Amino acid sequence: MSASRIARIALVTGASALVACGSSRSDSPGQGVHPVAYADPALHGADAIASLALCQGCHQSTFAGGGPLHTPSCNKCHADAGHPDWQTDCTFCHGDAARAADPGYPLVGSPAITANLAAPPSSLGTNNVVGAHVAHVVTAAMASPVQCSQCHGPSLPTNLDHVDGSVLIGWGNVASAGNVTPSPAGGNVARDQLLTCANYCHGATLAGGTDTSPSWNGPARTCTSCHGLPPPTGRHDVHVSLGMACSYCHFATATEPVGTSNVEVISSSGKALHVNGVKDVVLEPVVQGTWDPTQNGGKGGCASLCHGYGGPSANGTGWNP
Ligand code: HEC
Ligand code: HEC
Ligand code: HEC
Ligand code: HEC
Ligand code: HEC
Ligand code: HEC
Repeated sequence: MSASRIARIALVTGASALVACGSSRSDSPGQGVHPVAYADPALHGADAIASLALCQGCHQSTFAGGGPLHTPSCNKCHADAGHPDWQTDCTFCHGDAARAADPGYPLVGSPAITANLAAPPSSLGTNNVVGAHVAHVVTAAMASPVQCSQCHGPSLPTNLDHVDGSVLIGWGNVASAGNVTPSPAGGNVARDQLLTCANYCHGATLAGGTDTSPSWNGPARTCTSCHGLPPPTGRHDVHVSLGMACSYCHFATATEPVGTSNVEVISSSGKALHVNGVKDVVLEPVVQGTWDPTQNGGKGGCASLCHGYGGPSANGTGWNP
């Protein structure tokens, strides 16, 4: 809520005698406690989420209105506008009810919806809070849509208790894979802060990424943001410089679209494996082999058509020098 409006309500609340008898305020909408045109959702909605408790002081704890001030009912007015269940309707304040339902997300709220609909935008905040939700939840170009629980903790809200001015950050198993402690630390962060995130997903433990602590409002990711293309590990360089595509060894994850060369994309079935917390090495079927990290005395290697079936691969020197 803007300082001026807090001051205004505080002033009136302080002058309790005036308000309590109601005699000195006009009953015309907007002419009393609140600024003119306060029925506008953009005006009162933003104030409400900034401090529901303040509203409850006069509009009653259940938002049913009445009381000594004869306040209007939030519930009735919202029901008249088509939202009888606004307190548990997860897209009433944020998200997009018209977004396609994604059955990969759990059902939340009442009426129940798939949680992906509740991800901002839109929301009543400014850009920071909206951030990269669409990239993670809706478009998800390079990986499966990311569950809310990977960033907001295991249990999603069921009522208005979470509207407390702060956003709960709680990291899931992928964000903390590889023994990474993601940042910012889990817990409540003040709403609308400019956040920078570091975690397993964005390459905290991987080699060669150029932007492994991206801003929540940063630009779209590319194939070199989180790890190198290829990463500078093991014998990536020597293989890739021979012209081998990523899909030679990451067949289940990456592909080169037909008619292209050196254009690496994540295949549609590979999205479930990419950024899942596991390095997936699956050799292209034509080389008839498997990757074995225990070969060559733990340096790793491939028993394959390329290196001679069964024998120590890469002349016995292994993947890692
Ligand atoms: C005069 C009628 C009226 C009253 C009284 C009213 N609201 Fe609203 N409110 C609306 C309408 C209409 C909407 C928009 C609903 C929609 O999106 O279809 C809305 C939307 C909201 C939103 C979401 C805003 C947004 O832009 O998405 C919040 C939050 C909200 N109201 C809180 C409250 C609270 C809390 C109270 C009581 C303290 C209250 N309202 C009282 C009419 C009212
Ligand atoms: C000091 C008591 C008080 C507080 C605090 C209060 N209201 Fe009200 N509200 C009223 C009264 C009284 C009315 C009746 C019209 C008027 O006086 O403005 C009202 C009317 C409204 C209306 C209808 C406005 C219209 O033009 O029809 C909305 C919407 C509303 N309040 C929302 C809120 C929200 C949201 C909050 C919390 C941010 C809040 N109110 C806090 C007393 C209060
Ligand atoms: C990749 C991590 C990530 C995922 C996945 C994610 N969020 Fe968020 N969310 C954030 C961050 C970070 C913020 C806080 C941004 C800020 O305050 O600057 C946030 C804030 C929010 C907010 C507050 C918006 C506001 O107006 O203050 C809502 C609502 C929200 N998320 C809902 C969801 C829902 C629902 C899902 C799942 C469909 C989801 N988020 C998935 C990271 C994520
Ligand atoms: C009255 C408005 C309102 C309703 C209704 C609402 N939210 Fe929120 N939600 C917010 C606001 C505002 C935030 C940002 C945090 C804050 O300011 O407390 C938020 C934040 C979130 C977050 C980010 C994590 C957190 O706890 O801060 C998630 C996830 C979320 N909401 C899910 C839901 C779900 C699920 C429902 C339905 C059960 C729901 N919301 C209903 C206003 C609402
Ligand atoms: C948001 C960060 C991020 C971006 C952007 C990204 N990757 Fe990855 N990538 C990862 C992570 C994390 C791994 C580690 C293995 C895992 O968890 O799936 C990985 C692993 C891989 C692997 C190994 C196979 C696997 O599934 O483990 C390939 C191949 C790959 N990425 C290709 C690409 C290509 C091609 C692009 C661009 C289209 C790209 N990556 C963009 C994060 C990213
Ligand atoms: C000759 C086989 C081969 C090719 C070709 C190959 N990789 Fe790998 N890749 C591996 C093996 C084996 C591992 C597991 C050992 C390691 O992490 O170095 C791996 C691991 C990775 C990892 C995890 C790296 C880390 O820091 O832990 C990423 C990311 C990756 N590959 C991406 C790629 C990309 C992108 C390409 C194409 C530009 C590619 N790979 C081409 C065999 C290959």
